[in-house]
Amino acid sequence: MLVTRTTGETRAAVSQARARGCVIGFVPTMGALHAGHRSLVGEARRQSDFVAVSVFVNPTQFGPQEDFQEYPRTWEADRAACEQDGVDLVFAPEVAEMYPSPGLTTVRVSGLTDRLCGAFRPGHFDGVTTVVAKLFGIVAPDRAFFGEKDFQQAVVIRRMTRDLNMPVEVVLCPTVREPDGLAMSSRNQYLTPEQRRQAPVLHAALCAAAGQVRAGRTDAAELIRGVEHRIRASGPVEIDYVRIVDPLTLKDVERVECRARLCLAVRLGSCRLIDNLAIDPGAG
Ligand code: PAJ
Repeated sequence: MLVTRTTGETRAAVSQARARGCVIGFVPTMGALHAGHRSLVGEARRQSDFVAVSVFVNPTQFGPQEDFQEYPRTWEADRAACEQDGVDLVFAPEVAEMYPSPGLTTVRVSGLTDRLCGAFRPGHFDGVTTVVAKLFGIVAPDRAFFGEKDFQQAVVIRRMTRDLNMPVEVVLCPTVREPDGLAMSSRNQYLTPEQRRQAPVLHAALCAAAGQVRAGRTDAAELIRGVEHRIRASGPVEIDYVRIVDPLTLKDVERVECRARLCLAVRLGSCRLIDNLAIDPGAG
């Protein structure tokens, strides 16, 4: 496994692989790798010949009050996990390598980024799309693998590749969960034991709503109230949003008459958790 720190080394290694006829798969991450990230690597391994992973805690996607400094950095363990999972190349640049000069260019996907998490994290998605566009420019993958856990992020990035004619296929992979349903996240370690006991309510509430949809309920406002009620009943919590949206436009739907996405973000103390689930009346 090759570890690269610079754009030049990374480009050289990937072009060699491409010259050998390899399909290039890419999994962008911020490190602190867990089973969720590793499932993306597994899918990349299955769908490509050469797998590149990036490990880069991207400062431009964190707000001024957010956890950039505290974000977990576990380089040795990340490197070992990549090695074990058969990754060919890990690109782990310093901030100065990714942002060599004050950037004058931002990639912004309008519309899709002002709702859901975008409404609570101004500038966040601009940071994500800008860094992912840069990473795509460096790694030049054929396929890039993203988790449904960050559903809005995946939708935004897929739209960016289409709007900018990037020759990258965005592949979505299912959310990997703890046995009690909590979506795996590097931020789960911020939870106190009590909050950790409360956190599975998010998935339970999503599943209950999905069941109601399969049973014929279509009123989005009513479904949302049910989810909010269940979450509030679990203990102290701040709900940022619970919404049912069209999976392509991310616009609210009033009636769930075809496949939609139920998305939520809540805060348990200082820890912000997001989760989402497909809801489909046709699945009943
Ligand atoms: P990060 O939070 O490290 O996530 C990297 C990838 O892993 C994302 O595609 C995310 O959706 C996926 N992922 C995280 N938890 C998952 C889970 N439980 N199951 C399945 N997939 C999961 O997302 C980012 O980093 C950054 O925004 C990035 C795209 C790297 C740009 O900086």
